[in-house]
Amino acid sequence: MIVLLNESYLPMDQARISPDDRGFLFGDGVYEVWMLQDGQRVEDPAHWARLNRSLAALKITLPEHVNLAQKLDHLVVENGLGKGLATLYLQVTRGVAARKHAFPHAISPTIYAFCKPFRRNELALREGASAITVEDTRWSRCDIKSIALLPNVLANQMAQEAGAAEALFVREGRVLEGSHSNLFVVRGNEIWTAPDGPYILAGVTRNRVLALIQENRLTVKLDTLTVEQLKGADEAFLTGTTTEITPLVHVDGLSLGLGQPGPITRRLQRCFFAQSELSPPGFRDW
Ligand code: PDD
Repeated sequence: MIVLLNESYLPMDQARISPDDRGFLFGDGVYEVWMLQDGQRVEDPAHWARLNRSLAALKITLPEHVNLAQKLDHLVVENGLGKGLATLYLQVTRGVAARKHAFPHAISPTIYAFCKPFRRNELALREGASAITVEDTRWSRCDIKSIALLPNVLANQMAQEAGAAEALFVREGRVLEGSHSNLFVVRGNEIWTAPDGPYILAGVTRNRVLALIQENRLTVKLDTLTVEQLKGADEAFLTGTTTEITPLVHVDGLSLGLGQPGPITRRLQRCFFAQSELSPPGFRDW
């Protein structure tokens, strides 16, 4: 695998990052993850807009001469990923400096990117996934796509140990989002998802699904629900760049609705995959 490290394209095992990198020492950096379809970045402008918001929130400035989009295009070519599905990861840290909390002067950010083929979890897309609920121990700037993801890592590990795919963060009794996905909940004819703000990462996929909900003349409620309300819901689903639209059928070991993907989830999945040439085979018959 060829990775991009600052100005260089090199085999991953030759990439060297300083132990003084502030990403390593402080988690002082941000990232983005794109889906690539036949080498093209999906929802590209929305990902750049979020990257720029995250960088601005951390006051990290990219050097003006860096044409990052061009570099990422080249990385995809270097890895021969012009066909099929792949993911692209980009991380920007504040850079390298002797350890001191406040921002160092005159350093340039460290840029690191890799891409690799992506294999969908078709079973989860078709039959649904399980989640557990966990206390949200994150900070109050979850809107920044920071590389400091320890609460997300711990929460997802708890989910794995419980045999579930995702952990749903609960803050003051309200369910917000997953460790690496957003949550939508169907109650009657309303589709609920947490509002934009400091307690969720506003997913690019979430925005796309909100647009699909509008196009389908369905009703959206931008509000959170309690754990009990979630468990009493008719349907739920998770969204994310790699999660796409995955039905959520069990929470904390209890079935949601009929314990299988519901009709509204299916309808949105069909619209979502109909927009792509690389959809999972047979999705219209799920
Ligand atoms: N995670 N919420 C959180 C906390 C996330 O980490 C992610 C994405 C999402 C969904 O965002 P999007 O639709 O833009 O992918 C929501 C990425 C994929 C990751 O950490 O790998």
